[in-house]
Amino acid sequence: MQETDKEGWLSSILGKEQPPSHLARAVIEEKLRNAILDGRIPSGIALRQQELATLFGVSRMPVREALRQLEAQSLVRVEPHKGAVVAPLVGEDAVEAYSLRLLLEAEALRLSIPLLDAQDIAVARTYIEMLEAETDYTQMGKLNRLFHMALYHRAPNRRLLRLIKDGLDEEERFLRFNLSAMGLGELAQDDHWALLNAASDKDISGAIDILKHHLNRGVEAISHYLHHGPCAVAHKIIPPQKNDI
Ligand code: NI
Repeated sequence: MQETDKEGWLSSILGKEQPPSHLARAVIEEKLRNAILDGRIPSGIALRQQELATLFGVSRMPVREALRQLEAQSLVRVEPHKGAVVAPLVGEDAVEAYSLRLLLEAEALRLSIPLLDAQDIAVARTYIEMLEAETDYTQMGKLNRLFHMALYHRAPNRRLLRLIKDGLDEEERFLRFNLSAMGLGELAQDDHWALLNAASDKDISGAIDILKHHLNRGVEAISHYLHHGPCAVAHKIIPPQKNDI
């Protein structure tokens, strides 16, 4: 792709709005993040600092910082000679990532559940209810993450929670792009209710079993995706199912 074409293409996605300099990093990060998450900028595309700086009418510094943030969120990765490149949607290690998530999130449930109070349970319940009413994939991915974190957040191990949040961010990206093709229907929402009830009853082993079941659905969906390839994702015309998460 010619650079000039690419700049035109990027500007059609990102707009040419020139953010005030103190907001530049945050605005650029948010715009790139959204465009990557919903697939408008496909994986493998190189994001050049100078091009983006020109596009937004800023220096390279905020662009570099924005790209660094996106790298920390696994949305871009730095490749030799290419610089920042949009990372693949699902890595070949996705199934391994899920099994690791199960270990981490089960531990968070074990630590957090005894400390959850009625208010925490009420907040988690609100997220499920919002998920049921939501049809926008962007919001659904986010609500799914917020629901899970609401159940884990009392775990006193901050480092554990940070690792979990990274995993959930990764899942959010996958869900956001691929929800319609995933076939994760109302059953997954049933998992959320069951998880909430177990947490509310302080039933740690019950909650961990449900989480295992819930994450296994994710593994199956990703295996399906890897097997059938991105064409399943290209068919985004499949109408969204209510509760489809
Ligand atoms: Ni979930």
